[in-house]
Amino acid sequence: MRSSKTIPEPETPFFVWSSVEHTIGVTVFDEEHQRLAALMSQVHATLKDKQDRALAQNLMGALIYETWVHFDHEERVMAEVGFHGREAHVAEHAALIQQAKDLLKKVQRGDLNSQAMPDFLVTWLIPHIQITDRKYAACLQRHGFR
Ligand SMILES: [Fe+2]
Ligand SMILES: [Fe+2]
Repeated sequence: MRSSKTIPEPETPFFVWSSVEHTIGVTVFDEEHQRLAALMSQVHATLKDKQDRALAQNLMGALIYETWVHFDHEERVMAEVGFHGREAHVAEHAALIQQAKDLLKKVQRGDLNSQAMPDFLVTWLIPHIQITDRKYAACLQRHGFR
């Protein structure tokens, strides 16, 4: 049975995951990235289709937590393989988490409309995946990651 708090599965995704544009070539992280992208689409759909601001804020909190778990995973693997760009990468992760926390706090305080969340998400994590995450891909592949 579906409750009224069921998280909508968006008919039109927030953005379309493209293997060419978004895949970095390390399966474990490509899968994690896709899960994060799906959560972003749910935040968007919760506001657009259900107009449920409270649920969207909860989902945004979950997205921040899941992203933190993903970042921690990447950081552990980068350390394991001795990736030289790890330090800068870790600093970028910390900044991204802080930006998302700040935004959520402002929305919760009523300083920003909930609609600011999807607007923020468009430019938040995807460029990091496309540019920064791709930098470790070759190094991980040399260490057997596929
Ligand atoms: Fe990532
Ligand atoms: Fe990353």
